Amino acid sequence: MLSNITLHIEDDYEAMSKKATDVFIMALSQKMRSVFGFATGDTPKGLYRNLRTKDPYLFKRITAFNLDEYYPIHPENEQSYAYFMAKHLFDAIDLPQKQRHSPNGMAEDPIAECELYEQKLTAYGGIYFQVLGIGRNGHIGFNEPGESWTAQTNYVPLTQSTIDANSPNFLDPKDMPRHAITTGMRGIMTAKQIMLLASGENKAEILYKALTGPVTPSVPASVLQLHPDVTVVVDAAAGALFPRGK
Ligand code: F6R
Repeated sequence: MLSNITLHIEDDYEAMSKKATDVFIMALSQKMRSVFGFATGDTPKGLYRNLRTKDPYLFKRITAFNLDEYYPIHPENEQSYAYFMAKHLFDAIDLPQKQRHSPNGMAEDPIAECELYEQKLTAYGGIYFQVLGIGRNGHIGFNEPGESWTAQTNYVPLTQSTIDANSPNFLDPKDMPRHAITTGMRGIMTAKQIMLLASGENKAEILYKALTGPVTPSVPASVLQLHPDVTVVVDAAAGALFPRGK
């Protein structure tokens, strides 16, 4: 394992979430006035639940940038990522609306929305601490496997594997949008610190590939091998292919 990557393999989901909370709070207490990037999905739910129990004062000065959003989707749709972050964290910590940023899933022109989101992120000086999950196909954000990486915030067609993984969350799976707007690799890779979470045996192989295999856009998360400061926190099932110990 590369020395820029710190890997914590915890016994189970709860222990993983606890460790992730400790890492997050450590970063937050070092720099309370900074930009935090948030992923959605099942994996960080335990982290966000734990953060909800912390003193809301801690979060008073953060600026939040959501990593991605479906397109098209209304922010009040319960499956939207704007709704997810509000429900799982932002409302509970009383984060003012003006400190919450998310790609607009209702923007008239998704390409123009990507440019706007990129500009906003740049204007805020980029991300200080980015929370990431990993897709079963190795995606981070909605940067899907492909032949090249996209640096900028981008408008992407979702792959079948992502549609299969996420459509059961929709009341009618056919309602899942087939596109998304995602922070690109520049936004992710210029974060000062990254914390990647993974849970469950269906992430074991892709996680191992991403962290130890070739750096390639066909495994988007492999780009993290090039980042200077990545903490990976996983449960035993997701970390099964790594030797136990650090
Ligand atoms: C979500 C996101 C995705 C997820 C990934 C893992 O905002 O960007 O990359 O992190 O699909 O999802 P879960 O945690 O549901 O397995």
